[in-house]
Amino acid sequence: QPSSTQMEGSSLLRRENCRAKGGAPGFKVAILGAAGGIGQPLALLMKMNPLVSVLHLYDVVNTPGVTADISHMDTGAVVRGFLGQPQLESALTGMDLVIIPAGIPRKPGMTRDDLFKINAGIVQTLCEGVAKYCPHAIVNLISNPVNSTVPIAAEVFKKAGTYDPKRLLGVTTLDVVRANTFVAEVLGVNPKDVNVPVVGGHAGVTILPLLSQVNPPCSFTPDEISYLTDRIQNGGTEVVEAKAGTGSATLSMAFAAAKFADACLRGLHGDAGIIECSFVASQVTELPFFAAKVRLGRGGAEEIFPLGPLNEFERVGLEKAKKELAGSIEKGVSFIRK
Ligand code: NAI
Repeated sequence: QPSSTQMEGSSLLRRENCRAKGGAPGFKVAILGAAGGIGQPLALLMKMNPLVSVLHLYDVVNTPGVTADISHMDTGAVVRGFLGQPQLESALTGMDLVIIPAGIPRKPGMTRDDLFKINAGIVQTLCEGVAKYCPHAIVNLISNPVNSTVPIAAEVFKKAGTYDPKRLLGVTTLDVVRANTFVAEVLGVNPKDVNVPVVGGHAGVTILPLLSQVNPPCSFTPDEISYLTDRIQNGGTEVVEAKAGTGSATLSMAFAAAKFADACLRGLHGDAGIIECSFVASQVTELPFFAAKVRLGRGGAEEIFPLGPLNEFERVGLEKAKKELAGSIEKGVSFIRK
């Protein structure tokens, strides 16, 4: 009598072989930090994505339980769990997309920069793994402070000789998701019909919603602009305070990360016209990294769009954003070069 593990193993192999022979299209996706507040709901959402054929869940704790649980969902993706550093190689080998929400979240009174000390080292270790075991994968970096962790990842990849700026994407989708929601509330429309470009970075004043470029075109009073800008920039803190010490945004973040990952996968798949905002290496400003609208394709961020016409309020915001961003980027770069 074969054990359930043996049965599962041979069935997984059969399904993978079938895919390899040109069956259902599908990509291999790993989530690093998969047992966390973001990681778990993100794993659930990626298991529901028809573009995913294999889903690897890696963390330093609790992945056996999360994996057993998620693997019972009757959707196509094959799920496997990996626990601890010795299993990082197996977790990463062959992956097309690596999503990284590993690291500690904020508590009330903390800025994202306060997380730097711990999360910088975690991101470094995980990106060294990516460089070694799946150097061609697209990386979606969620761990905060994103304004510094993306430059850290870039430096790690440069050191390893695997850096492709188009494949390293900082996830700022939650800022866009929040902006769409808050703007829709003010306009009294369905958020799914609203698209607000949010550029700059992912912390406080570096989060720069371009309310003059909302789609569909609309206009706001000065009071609305000031209310919306403030709420979008501080949306994360709103959640941190409401959670009162138990963490930061996890559910809306998992939703945003799944939306962004899906866009990356559709790009990899060759779908046309996939445009999202992301914090990437860029020449849109004089800074080496900046969040802007990017077109996603087979190579990752294949095109980065200029900011477009800004009004006076946005120009002032841009200067403030750049000043803070420059410091955060430098902090990330020197963490690796030190
Ligand atoms: P959490 O503490 O609930 O989960 C983090 C997970 O990472 C834990 O399961 C932990 O075991 C794991 N982990 C720690 N070190 C690891 C390592 N070396 N390798 C693999 N896994 C490791 O935290 P949560 O709420 O899921 O947040 C994760 C990160 O995402 C935080 O840095 C947070 O600030 C950030 N975040 C980013 C947002 C964005 O918009 N980009 C929004 C919200 C949070």
